[in-house]
Amino acid sequence: MASAELQYLPSAQKSQTSTVQTNAPYLTDAASIDRVIRAMTLEEKAKFVVGVGMPGFTRGPFEITGAVGGTYGIPRLGIPELRMADGPAGLRIRPTRPGQTQTYYATAFPIATSLASTWDTAVAKVVGEAQGNEVKEYGIDMFLAPALNIHRNPLNGRNFEYYSEDPLISGKIAASVVNGIQSNGVGATIKHFAANNQETNRMIIDTIVSQRALREIYLKGFEIAVKESRPWAVMSSYNKINGTYASENTDLLTAVLRKDWGFKGFVMTDWFAGKDPVEQMKAGNDLIMPGASKKSNLIKLAVISGRLDEKVLDRNIKNILQIIIQTPEFKKYQNSDRPDLKAHAMVARTAAAEGMVLLRNKDHALPISKNKKIALFGNTQIETIKGGTGSGDVNAAYTVSIADGLTDAGYELNQELLSKYKVYINSLRQQEPYKIKPNPWGEDFGKVVPVIPERPLEENEIASAAKGNDFGMIVIGRNSGEAEDRKVVKGDYLLSDAEKDMISRVSSEFRKQGKKVAVILNIGGPIEVASWRDKVDSILLAWQPGQEAGNAVADIVSGKVNPAGKLTTTFPLKYSDVPSAVNFPGTPASNPVKVIYQEDIYVGYRYYTTFRVKTAYEFGYGLSYTNFNISDVKISEGKKFKDNLSLSAMVENTGSVPGREVVQVYVSAPDGNLEKPAVELKAFSKTKELKPYQRQLLHFNLNAKDLASFDEEKSAWILEKGTYTVKVGASSENIKGSATFTVDHEMIVQKVSDVLKPKVDFKRLTKQ
Ligand code: BGC
Repeated sequence: MASAELQYLPSAQKSQTSTVQTNAPYLTDAASIDRVIRAMTLEEKAKFVVGVGMPGFTRGPFEITGAVGGTYGIPRLGIPELRMADGPAGLRIRPTRPGQTQTYYATAFPIATSLASTWDTAVAKVVGEAQGNEVKEYGIDMFLAPALNIHRNPLNGRNFEYYSEDPLISGKIAASVVNGIQSNGVGATIKHFAANNQETNRMIIDTIVSQRALREIYLKGFEIAVKESRPWAVMSSYNKINGTYASENTDLLTAVLRKDWGFKGFVMTDWFAGKDPVEQMKAGNDLIMPGASKKSNLIKLAVISGRLDEKVLDRNIKNILQIIIQTPEFKKYQNSDRPDLKAHAMVARTAAAEGMVLLRNKDHALPISKNKKIALFGNTQIETIKGGTGSGDVNAAYTVSIADGLTDAGYELNQELLSKYKVYINSLRQQEPYKIKPNPWGEDFGKVVPVIPERPLEENEIASAAKGNDFGMIVIGRNSGEAEDRKVVKGDYLLSDAEKDMISRVSSEFRKQGKKVAVILNIGGPIEVASWRDKVDSILLAWQPGQEAGNAVADIVSGKVNPAGKLTTTFPLKYSDVPSAVNFPGTPASNPVKVIYQEDIYVGYRYYTTFRVKTAYEFGYGLSYTNFNISDVKISEGKKFKDNLSLSAMVENTGSVPGREVVQVYVSAPDGNLEKPAVELKAFSKTKELKPYQRQLLHFNLNAKDLASFDEEKSAWILEKGTYTVKVGASSENIKGSATFTVDHEMIVQKVSDVLKPKVDFKRLTKQ
């Protein structure tokens, strides 16, 4: 025994005696927690802060197959084991279990970007409620969702799991989802905290970023979610931030998260994240996931050697226990294993339709009445993509294809074409390399579906389809997922030659016949659109809409639902316009180890509007089958800002069908010591369904913190003096009315911890 271990003998003896002790305290409620911690042996403590391993890697499957993690239980102290499973598009568990006929399918809801595109916090909450119900009824305690990293660059392979390039919409949607999930009495885990905006070398990449960009862009959404929904857990991310792993970062996990924001839940690592479990403990990363005995041994030894104060362990344990006492497992909830999947499918369908964005609709090409014949092109009409791949996949019972959805809605699809596509896809799926394969990550991660090249179109089939049908419709699909970023290549960010050819030929033949063509984009993030969009009449961005995909597309195509989604992420004219394009995915290009966020606060529309760079479709953009007028923008408190501002705007449906409008409130703040983006989203609201000529007065409230910018010198949120313009509109470029107010003197709104400073100098994008 090493001398350090000898010194520790009293506690070690405690461990032996406490196992035989009969009157050990029992975890019953919050008041029992301190006693329970005092009764834990060092061994137990070190095991408790480390998860029980991951099926397929460090242990066999959990009783709930497909759960990815669990906490360590200590029955003698009444501490149960928790179970965790992924999201965010729905609960990811395995749908079948050996020897059982019962199935455990979960609902695949629309991807996060689609959900955010609803700009509807009520819809987001209902989706959260349904997800949380499945979590609870399938016996899981902690849902590893939602995810709200920022769309810094459109190529991030996991952007589909995230909401937006803007932190306000991200934070508000996340808070609604968390509130929905947790209304079931299960926990939500907001992830990946923080600045985890790429998949390339995600486990080691060092994100070099300014304090201001962190506070205003990358942390802001998390701040909103923590304050407005009190998530039970936060998952720290894989990457480093300014040289320190997020999971080992005291500044991030203790100073910002707990001290500045008042977070009361527990922090867990992302799976296998970081290097040093002792540093993770010290930083306030309460739980190490998925966990391995090596880690608990290191923690135990660190306490014995004096490198880690046992009090730190106690603190972390307390954070976890405070959540454990709220879980279904602790409360001995008897889960049914039978959530109402039918009802949840309806929730998914409604949300999916609400999140679709009509990008183009020349001469009201859409909607299409049900007596029309449609010729449908593109492989993805059959193999419609419900969501992205990796841990964010969902094992749903089905996905309604776009072809089936349109058929079920009553459209007559050209059968000859349809059957050609079916035959083509079926035959390729029998052959290598297109066979659908088991996922090397395991059965819980869905299947690997290799991309099939577009079916080559025969010379005369388009012309005859154009003659025999009323409408041409082309479906373009894309998928991406965990562990890999997207690329600016044909077939990914760019259209493939076959897709371009399909669009050109279909549109020219249909136009010759005086008929219209629409493109349905079944994608998880922006692609290049500028070079081909003028060839078609309509473009519907359906996103990856979850398992009810085809039905939701049909709801929009038929006009049953009037599109009211708006972009939460910009579609640039070309990839090189993206402000982070030169700094993604980092350097050295061959194998990036660091990525410098040189674009600083100018992410997404903050860049395009400030530097006047034209986009294909701007942030906030989206058409409707009707028109709206936004007018009477008024500030009620007069021209001088004190500490709060009430704003109103009138919305009127000036078109001929009922619909909803998303009203966006942007603010242009004056440049002072700090320069400001041209506009920043500060509030938004969606009208109820307005009938033609119906009006609704919308109200908004902004306080000093909402309007403030982050001053690194003062380490504070400040409101600089000058004239502010509130711009209310239908997108970041389509402002319908404005009002001004002044701030007389600089206000320090809130001082925060002066942490997370970059350790190296780098050039930051500025207006000057
Ligand atoms: C992902 C997390 C996920 C975890 C557990 C990680 O690879 O980054 O989002 O929750 O795995 O599956």
